[in-house]
Amino acid sequence: MQRDTIVFNLINQELERQQHGIELIASENFTSLQVMEAMGTSLTNKYAEGYPGRRYYGGCEIIDQVEQLAIDRLKQIFNCEYANVQPHSGAQANAALMLGVLQPGDKILGLDLSMGGHLTHGSPVNFSGKLYEAHFYTVKKDTGLIDYDMLEEKARTVKPKLIICGASAYSRDIDYGRIRKVADEINAFVMCDMAHPAGLIAKGLLNSPFDDCHFVTSTTHKTLRGPRGGIILMKKDFENPFGLKDVKSKTRMMSNILDMAVFPGTQGGPLEHVIAAKAVSFGEILTDDFTAYAKQIQKNAQAMAKAFTAKGYNIISGGTDNHLMLIDLRNKNLTGKKAQETLDKAHITLNKNAVPYDDKSPFVTSGIRVGVPAITTRGMKEEHMPLVVALIDRVLMNIDDQKTIAAVSHEVKDLMKQFPLYPQLNK
Ligand SMILES: Cc1ncc(COP(=O)(O)O)c(C=O)c1O
Repeated sequence: MQRDTIVFNLINQELERQQHGIELIASENFTSLQVMEAMGTSLTNKYAEGYPGRRYYGGCEIIDQVEQLAIDRLKQIFNCEYANVQPHSGAQANAALMLGVLQPGDKILGLDLSMGGHLTHGSPVNFSGKLYEAHFYTVKKDTGLIDYDMLEEKARTVKPKLIICGASAYSRDIDYGRIRKVADEINAFVMCDMAHPAGLIAKGLLNSPFDDCHFVTSTTHKTLRGPRGGIILMKKDFENPFGLKDVKSKTRMMSNILDMAVFPGTQGGPLEHVIAAKAVSFGEILTDDFTAYAKQIQKNAQAMAKAFTAKGYNIISGGTDNHLMLIDLRNKNLTGKKAQETLDKAHITLNKNAVPYDDKSPFVTSGIRVGVPAITTRGMKEEHMPLVVALIDRVLMNIDDQKTIAAVSHEVKDLMKQFPLYPQLNK
């Protein structure tokens, strides 16, 4: 068969785009070459419905070892009794978790999407808001911090079966203990979706959700720096989770219920090439190099927040504990949409984002979300953050000046040459 030059040319163009630019999308990262290598392998050819040692297909003896390795390494990272590495994505992990724990029509309580929550935490346009009765808590208008009083009050009045914590655009740590306390009062489960800060949690740099949350889900491609994918974890497995009488032996343990909720509940064959890449990235997370990386993320985020504040930018909650920050651009007379689109022209990539109590539509927004995991992978340190902020500021303060934008785009390209990305891949 002829080589598909059309697709491979596009792939090369995307590689160059990634190499040239300053990547500040908080949910993105650059995997190691060996993680990508594992994904592009013969494992993509294999059907392996089921789990290691209990598959519906023959020929799974190697695949079983790969998947078991991924499970064991993941359990070791977070010191957990249970891990499922099959969810194809973060959204799939959440769908499976809810399928396992909830009945259609059950009540859930999550952080409002417009306040930093995620679509899968009850948004009406998502399965979570269509299949379940979704209720929301918010952040406080004056501090930008989660309104735990409101969360408790809603929990007591609504009595959800599942309280969801975790967020997509929240820069502060979470008080899991407080959430668990009210959950116990009303007999609810607590789930943490740690997709964003998982890499920092893995290294003990943020509060751990594992003691207080019955379930933890995550993506693997954000701060964990693995391939795109999802995972489900439990620190402790438990028996007869719904307190039913005469529970059949097969469904006695929560781990069985969750495994079945992933397959056959919400997915078919697992992506074993991606699971192999997950295993490689989990091996990387277990190293001291990754500890240094996670610490550097936090240092970079704090240095960046300081540099933005010094230039008069309004950071929601006044700073960051993790890898990202949310900036309200209203005092700069800019929308998130205009900022994102103009920065794109200068090869600085980030995303527009609603700020809490935003008066603009989600397609326009008053804010931008800025994250440092990807530039930290490229080797940038605290001392580089003021320079990155200065480049962003020059574009934003000269938003319609094509000359400035072109000049910044050249400076960005030059700067990023100092932080090479996958040089081995350039032909
Ligand atoms: C908190 C959170 N959960 C889940 C997801 C969904 O992950 P995926 O895009 O892999 O489905 C995201 C993605 O941005 C997220 O931020």
